[in-house]
Amino acid sequence: MVLQNSRSDVKNKANYNNGNLMKNYKSLNELIPLGVVMPWLRNKFIGKLSGFERRRLEATSQANAFIKDIIDKKLGSRSSETSLEPALIDRILDLVRNGDLSYDDVMGEFSNIIFAASDTTSVTVNNVLSLLAMFPKVQDKVFEELAEVFPSVGGSELSHGDVEKLVYLDQVLQETLRLIPAVPLLIRQTSQEIRLSNGFQIPEGVTLMIDIFHTHQNTDVWGPKAGEFNPDNFLAVNKRNRHPYGYLPFSKGKKTCLGYKLSLISVKLALAKILRNYKLSTSFLYQDLEFVDNTTIKLAKQPKLKIERRT
Ligand code: HEM
Repeated sequence: MVLQNSRSDVKNKANYNNGNLMKNYKSLNELIPLGVVMPWLRNKFIGKLSGFERRRLEATSQANAFIKDIIDKKLGSRSSETSLEPALIDRILDLVRNGDLSYDDVMGEFSNIIFAASDTTSVTVNNVLSLLAMFPKVQDKVFEELAEVFPSVGGSELSHGDVEKLVYLDQVLQETLRLIPAVPLLIRQTSQEIRLSNGFQIPEGVTLMIDIFHTHQNTDVWGPKAGEFNPDNFLAVNKRNRHPYGYLPFSKGKKTCLGYKLSLISVKLALAKILRNYKLSTSFLYQDLEFVDNTTIKLAKQPKLKIERRT
């Protein structure tokens, strides 16, 4: 019940409804990697002259105002202790009320989480649907599995247990994240000089990019057909001996994605609902896909999908 209240808090905001919020997140998505590949844009003078700083500040402050509004409203209401099913945000705000967390830390973390969760999940759902439209045999197999778990069409309720039964859909999702990783590169800065296992020395203060996109197509790891769409890459037997860093759509180690389990479940829920009830097709060819690197990956041309209701 509380979750629904939190959801309506968001849906009733003007800048959510008029698309401004998404526009600001989209701007940040473009500006962040731009500031990394062109670090001079982050220089005070050049940033001001080029308009980069103005755009960055505008997008950040509008996105933050949206979050601040929700936090302030919630802080002004009762603590979560009186609620039967407090949402995570209510529990966190109790820590602010008790002085265990600072207001600014919570603002920063919420801002990160919303930014990290919004585009990644939606582009992934979009990419799976586009690939399935291009590969009808794979889509048929996904549908057979879904029809077995949900025998009747329509708006069946899905439980976590149902999602766990969708083994082939999981393979399709993993394969999509391999070929079109929502986050195509990771950006790091060395805080001290480091020496790699091959002897290569990297000085302190260097910006590094870890290229997830090309790691996922490395033929040493994925074989000569690394560029092909093949959900069987994620059969247990094929995963067993693979290099642990050959697949990292959610990053690895200490900075691994905080929402990775939630996102796998929510993407599968969305896909199950759509694919159980609709058949997708397209004349767009897989080999014509072109990718645009950004904080989240973009398709240069979005395949047009034909959608037919299943009976
Ligand atoms: C398909 C969906 C998603 C993908 C592919 C994805 C991928 C990633 C990747 C690669 C990182 C590491 C970024 C870096 O270190 O530079 C990351 C970080 C993060 N993700 Fe996700 N993510 C997804 C969905 C979500 C969702 C739904 C949430 C929250 C509900 C979320 C929350 C976060 C947070 C908070 C971080 C930062 C963790 C930290 O810095 O310690 N992500 N994600």
